[in-house]
Amino acid sequence: MTIDEKVRKTLKELEAKTPDEVNNLFAGVIAAVESERQKLVTRGTADESERERLAKELRDRWLARKSGIISSIDECWLKTAPKELKPAVGRAFNELRKASAVLETNELLKAIPLKRRGKRQGELIFSADAGTSKMGGRDLTLPGYRRPLGSVHPVTQVMREIEDIFLGLGFSIESGPEIESVYYNFEALNIPESHPARDDWDTLYVNSQVLLRTHTSPVQIRAMEKHGAPLYIICPGKCYRHDNPDSTHATMFHQVEGLAVDTDISFADLKGTLDFFARKFFGEKIRTNFFPSFFPFTEPSGDLAISCVFCEGKGCRVCKESGWVEVMGCGMVHPEVLRHGGIDPGRYSGWAFGLGVERFAMMKYDINDIQLFHQGDARFLEQF
Ligand code: PHE
Repeated sequence: MTIDEKVRKTLKELEAKTPDEVNNLFAGVIAAVESERQKLVTRGTADESERERLAKELRDRWLARKSGIISSIDECWLKTAPKELKPAVGRAFNELRKASAVLETNELLKAIPLKRRGKRQGELIFSADAGTSKMGGRDLTLPGYRRPLGSVHPVTQVMREIEDIFLGLGFSIESGPEIESVYYNFEALNIPESHPARDDWDTLYVNSQVLLRTHTSPVQIRAMEKHGAPLYIICPGKCYRHDNPDSTHATMFHQVEGLAVDTDISFADLKGTLDFFARKFFGEKIRTNFFPSFFPFTEPSGDLAISCVFCEGKGCRVCKESGWVEVMGCGMVHPEVLRHGGIDPGRYSGWAFGLGVERFAMMKYDINDIQLFHQGDARFLEQF
């Protein structure tokens, strides 16, 4: 028998003949008060209006003057009680009234918690309650929460842009390990042990034979060994140096290496390709200039400079008043390097370059601190 059915019967019908039996009956009612209240408190509600509605529903069910369960007990149990049971029923009824004070609307509102948004949302939508008034005042037609989407990192964007230009010229993409051997990083590139040129690369050694590659040039050798000539590749990737971080140096940064090996490759091919690339990347107005330089793995070696993107070559703080900014090292592949790659320098020649991706991104977007790329601050990254 449910509580609602019980409270509509008389004590006689319920076969409560002694004070003990009456007390048991009332104890059951008090237990029901507590359990119905507890159910609502643990369930919680989604919002203020649902809380008010559910609190009022429970309060009315028990305490409503005319139709509430308490009034019904008053009518059916107390008023009709036989004389000898009246004192016991009266006492128990008073206890019940006190115990049911927790069902007053104010008390309920204090006790029922608001559920944190989203926590049980999925559950509710798929529960048996879905589509009924017990949806708890949820409006399922409201738009959902938009989760912030990430974006492609500016370094990756610039790297892809560079890749696209060279892919368009018929180059393919190669990659090599970031944890590299001393052989590929130095020896094969014509930088023998104890040669002072090794000092040009502040190296992070894992042990005496293994290091974190200081440039992407070792991929030149690996690609030549793997594919032979003719060869047209670029290699984008991470490099590591034992540098103190400042606005232009980072322990980890990105390079794109380029390598072309074929019969009859000359310095003119290098100049033409890099001039085309610079104009595609920075804009048609850009002019290029090649300055002599030195790298052990290229001969002759050069630095490619572009007309300053900030002052258009007039001279400013960025280009140190020269109108030119050096953007990459390059040169004709040293015959010794071709030989290390298994290619006959008597038959083939080649050119190579290496550029810093962060530096390119800084020039393109006028960024003055390389550290910004690696700090993961969304306020910076979301601008790209
Ligand atoms: N590897 C050189 C560096 O990191 C750049 C370079 C690459 C120069 C290829 C010439 C040819 O400094």
